[in-house]
Amino acid sequence: MQVKINNKNRSFNGTPFKRLIDVLREDFGLTGTKEGCSEGECGACTVLLDGKPVNSCLISICQVEGAAIETVESLGLPEKLHPLQESFLREGGAQCGICTPGMLMTAAAYLKAGGDPSPDAIREELAGNLCRCTGYQHIINSVAKALSENKK
Ligand code: FES
Ligand code: FES
Repeated sequence: MQVKINNKNRSFNGTPFKRLIDVLREDFGLTGTKEGCSEGECGACTVLLDGKPVNSCLISICQVEGAAIETVESLGLPEKLHPLQESFLREGGAQCGICTPGMLMTAAAYLKAGGDPSPDAIREELAGNLCRCTGYQHIINSVAKALSENKK
């Protein structure tokens, strides 16, 4: 099976029903994607599938054959962070970090689409991503900052 992951063509020869999150983490060493609930409720496992956020715990690798997958590893490097990563760092948008990769990927798709930086619109966009630590306000602020800087 061929899949494009973070802009590289990758082959997978294992069981076609292996979950995408497991293939990413176990077969390709992309452990940035986190697992929370394992049932499509928390959004911790969010990756982009052809540019759209999806829960990688609910998708089998055979369902994404030929598609493009982006994980949090595609966003930035420690020495050159993505604007959203910068913003989460500055605004305190991450605490334990389990929800953060999923939040970042949902927000990255929103940023790319030129999303509305108003807090209500961001809350709605991130409604599928749950956080047990931050109380959300710092996350909303982080995304709003990155969106407004993007529009300058
Ligand atoms: S781990 Fe996939 S939605 Fe919670
Ligand atoms: S920072 Fe811990 S779950 Fe969000």
